[in-house]
Amino acid sequence: MGILDKVAKYREEEEKLKWEGTFAEYLELVKEKPWIAQSAHSRVYNMIKDAGVEEVDGVKRYKFFSHQLYGLETALERLVEEYFHPAAKRLDVRKRILLLMGPVSGGKSTLVTMLKRGLEQYSRTDRGAVFAIKGCPMHEDPLHLIPPHLREDFYEEYGIRIEGNLSPLNMLRLEQEYGGRIEDVLVERIIFSEDRRVGIGTFSPSDPKSQDIADLTGSIDFSTIAEYGSESDPRAYRFDGELNKANRGMMEFQEMLKCDEKFLWHLLSLTQEGNFKAGRFALISADELIVAHTNETEYRAFISNKKNEALHSRIIVMPIPYNLKVSEEEKIYEKMIRESDVADVHIAPHTLKIAAMFTILTRLKEPKRGDIDLIKKMRLYDGQNVEGFSAIDVEELKKEYSDEGMSGIDPRYVINRISSTIIRKEVKSINALDVLRSLKEGLEQHPSITPESKEKYLNFISLARKEYDELAKKEVQKAFVYSYEESAKTLMDNYLDNVEAYCNKTKLRDPLTGEEINPDEKLMRSIEEQIGISENAKKAFREEILIRISAYARKGKRFDYNSHGRLREAIQKKLFADLKDVVKITTSTKTPDEQQLKKINEVVARLIDEHGYNSTSANELLRYVGSLLNR
Ligand SMILES: Nc1ncnc2c1ncn2[C@@H]1O[C@H](COP(=O)(O)OP(=O)(O)OP(=O)(O)O)[C@@H](O)[C@H]1O
Ligand SMILES: [Mg+2]
Repeated sequence: MGILDKVAKYREEEEKLKWEGTFAEYLELVKEKPWIAQSAHSRVYNMIKDAGVEEVDGVKRYKFFSHQLYGLETALERLVEEYFHPAAKRLDVRKRILLLMGPVSGGKSTLVTMLKRGLEQYSRTDRGAVFAIKGCPMHEDPLHLIPPHLREDFYEEYGIRIEGNLSPLNMLRLEQEYGGRIEDVLVERIIFSEDRRVGIGTFSPSDPKSQDIADLTGSIDFSTIAEYGSESDPRAYRFDGELNKANRGMMEFQEMLKCDEKFLWHLLSLTQEGNFKAGRFALISADELIVAHTNETEYRAFISNKKNEALHSRIIVMPIPYNLKVSEEEKIYEKMIRESDVADVHIAPHTLKIAAMFTILTRLKEPKRGDIDLIKKMRLYDGQNVEGFSAIDVEELKKEYSDEGMSGIDPRYVINRISSTIIRKEVKSINALDVLRSLKEGLEQHPSITPESKEKYLNFISLARKEYDELAKKEVQKAFVYSYEESAKTLMDNYLDNVEAYCNKTKLRDPLTGEEINPDEKLMRSIEEQIGISENAKKAFREEILIRISAYARKGKRFDYNSHGRLREAIQKKLFADLKDVVKITTSTKTPDEQQLKKINEVVARLIDEHGYNSTSANELLRYVGSLLNR
């Protein structure tokens, strides 16, 4: 389907969504689908819930957010359970302003935008449909037409509570246009749209001297005063402030805490009573979610000012910290790169992961427990297995600091450095070393990084570099060994046979000659030495392995290559040590002979076909590992 056909189809759908009827007809509809009369907060909550929830490791993952926000599950769970859910149930929190507090470019605006775009979409669905008094600039809730003294009866009949009073404008229209007959008042379905200023608004403070409260609550329309005779005629008022337009949906309040006080006072009554004052009218009821965002410093300054106490108590603060998982951070970069105009550049495997490691390290706080270093903590947070630690340790670590993730390097900085790397390098291919170098250079120029943290960050760059060295060596090693898992398994089986014979004081049989032979001490030691097992400790280590094997056997499980972390490490290192010489010679000779050249080409091909490299990055990797091995 071409783009114009799609446009036409959209228009057709739009047409189908239209509904118009009298208030009497609307009430029929409410009987049938009571949810159409829900409050703004309840609609937001249901929108999030309807997208689906899954539970991962005891934390809820709301699908509504999960396709664009990564690693924020805990914060989002809290946001939904402590704000949206109770607000949907008409508890008092809904009257508070939701203030998202978090470090720079930690996803606050992204979150708010998702809610806005989500609501626009949701209002097009049956579950999210919204109806309003026709022709009302504030899309007033039709149920406001029910006079206050009949609302108890309405509740009895419909089970729906009505909040808020009919606005002065619709009061007048009811009298003049409909002769007071509420059943005849026309109602229409509305579709939220920020562009058309329906149900979604954004208020952004500008120069306090020139900015007018009208931007928030509307203003008198001087051109019509003459027609209606008085300033207090609601028809002579333009209800076109952001608060008016966002009624029934949500309003984003940008830079709220930077805003002039007079704007904030307006919010006071809105948040307290659910209504605000405009012009010379009685209070106007509003039903909308107000979301603001700020960073920690600004927030602290705000609450330390006594004058702000009243407002402060009407704000619900929800922390939105940085993501602390390496793998999720990688996804953030992938997303940002996909959305940028450098999307066609080849990024060598592990590049983003290594950058993410550096970033996460800057965000983590030093563990208070002595047995865990920062690298281990980083791995544990990422959900990786670290020998000797369990999920309980992770929970404990998370409890050590309540404000972890509120500082450190932000994703935008990393993406900027990646972009500048891409621009500087002539080939359209970058690797982890390029990025680390660029991150390092960036620190020198970064004005807001103190010398102290610069020192720390430089150290994190070298930690990330070390991680990369290991990964790079492993990658090359894997590509050199034709079938890596296979060779590892064979070596391990061989080792285990020998260990068994050693512990049971028996002999092995030579597979070729059938002769009885002693366990191969040299082989066993060559593996054990890889992980620093001394001559004195070897017996205990071998026995432990044997015990582990029989424990597995008792449970009917197979002891395999992955069953014992340290043994696996030893086997890998041994394989690599054997290979090292081959790799070293092949990758570092300036003029490889034919045999070596063939091997190198094979390895490059494998790196490209199976590991996601291109020929530039594969050759760069080989050269780098060659130089590492020659150190
Ligand atoms: N946890 C995250 N998941 C996905 N993307 C993220 C995350 N954190 C940041 N980003 C990305 O980083 C960029 C900056 O985020 P955003 O503008 O939402 O941050 P912010 O908190 O509003 O920052 P600021 O305080 O500077 O206004 C966006 O492209 C956003 O998608
Ligand atoms: Mg922002």
